[in-house]
Parts: sequence; C-alpha cells; structure tokens
Amino acid sequence: MRLFNLLAAASALGSALAQGSDGKLRIMPLGDSITEITCWRAFVWDDIVAANYSSKVKYVGSQNSNPQNCKPKTAGWDMHHEGHSGWLAINIANQYLERWMQSTPADIVMFMLGTNDVNTGRSTADIMAAYTKMVNIMRKANPKMKIIVDLVIPLPFRPDGINAINKAIPAWAAGLNSTESPIVIADCNTGFPASDLRDGVHPNLAGDEIIRGRISPLLLNLIKESLGE
Ligand SMILES: *[C@@H]1O[C@H](CO)[C@@H](O)[C@H](O)[C@H]1NC(C)=O
Ligand SMILES: *[C@@H]1O[C@H](CO)[C@@H](O)[C@H](O)[C@H]1NC(C)=O
Repeated sequence: MRLFNLLAAASALGSALAQGSDGKLRIMPLGDSITEITCWRAFVWDDIVAANYSSKVKYVGSQNSNPQNCKPKTAGWDMHHEGHSGWLAINIANQYLERWMQSTPADIVMFMLGTNDVNTGRSTADIMAAYTKMVNIMRKANPKMKIIVDLVIPLPFRPDGINAINKAIPAWAAGLNSTESPIVIADCNTGFPASDLRDGVHPNLAGDEIIRGRISPLLLNLIKESLGE
C-alpha cells in the first residue's frame, strides 16, 4: 500500500514537471509563413510574461527569427519557432516533423497549417490525413503532448478550401482527443475580417492581435496545467 502511494505520488509529480533539461516547459509554434513572418507569437510571449510564466517556459524550434521586426512589450522575447514560409502541412507531416520533434522536443505544440496546401489545390481529406499524421508523430515523440490546433485564418481568394478544413477540424480533434494528450482548438477564423490581412494572406498587426487573443488563453491554461499550478 505504501509503495503504491509512493509510486502514485511520484507519477503525479512527474506529470507536473516540465521535461526539458533546464526544467522549462517547451512550447513549439509550428506552421507556415503565418507563423514565421508575423507578430502574433511575439504578442503571445507578452501574455506569457504578463502571466509570470516566462522564466518557466520557452519556445522551441529549429528557427530563431523575427523577420517582421516585431516589437512586443518584451524586448528579450523568445524568437524560436518552427514556422516555414510556403510549406504544406502534407510535406511537414511526411518529411519533416519527426526530425523536428527529435531535434527540439516539445511539451506543447500550437499549429496553424493548411493554407499552402489549399493554395496548391490539395484536398481537404489529404490535409486532414496530414493533421492526423502530425498528431501521431507528436505523440510518438511525447505521449503527453498538449496540442493547440488553430482554425486557419481566412484566405479570401480561396475561401472554400480553408472553410472546409476549419469545418472538419472540430470533429477531427474530438476524435483524436485524449486525457493524456489533449487537443484544444483556437478559433483564429471567426470574426477575422479580410481587412486584417496585409496582403490577402498574412495578418497585419490587427490580425496578429486577433490570433494572439484566440491562442493565449488556451496556451496559458495548458501551461498552468503542465506546471501543476
Ligand atoms: C506577476 O508577478 C508580479 C510581481 O511579483 C505580480 O505583481 C503580479 O500580480 C503577477 N501576475 C500574475 C498574473 O500572477
Ligand atoms: C479535449 O478534451 C479536453 C478535456 O480533456 C477538452 O477541454 C477539450 O475541449 C477537448 N477537445 C476537443 C476538440 O473536443
């Protein structure tokens, strides 16, 4: 009985601790140019700072850049990410994600992908299959991966494909959801006006603020849970 309690306590403690060697919880912003050459991840970092989590978490990914010269409140914000301009969910799932998960392991992945797939005429079914493959790769790397999947921001010149992915995501996410590895949805689409796109594809600063507002509350919740606070 005693041993059992001890093991249960150890396991509860284990699940509350971050897994990085520096003890920090690892958050990977994963996506295409809407992750790479935008400012929402900088603004989300401001929210992490405001919630007093910045010493306990870090962004991870093979990239470390600020191509838009974003100026959030926090001067020393963490610029790591796994955003790749022009890349398809399908190719990331099939060729890259497994390696990224090994080179920069994560505890939380937040991703928005599919815009380039839609833009190159890929089917909704193929895109959703890539999403499933990505979740499987994430969980193989970390069975307790916490996942934020974004509804994709509008793509006014090809709305049908984006709308189809966004329509498919809720049932897809619910079907793969688990207590050990929760998937939550950040709705980055509803109420996002075309006027908040700077070039018909990428968010301007107002659009970045919308994305920030949809992702931050979910991320802060997952951080809180992960740190056992
Ligand atoms: C963060 O820490 C500061 C200084 O200790 C404190 O004033 C503030 O209330 C904290 N904020 C939150 C959200 O816990
Ligand atoms: C997944 O489960 C969690 C609870 O563990 C819940 O908060 C979340 O909304 C669920 N996600 C989906 C997409 O149903």
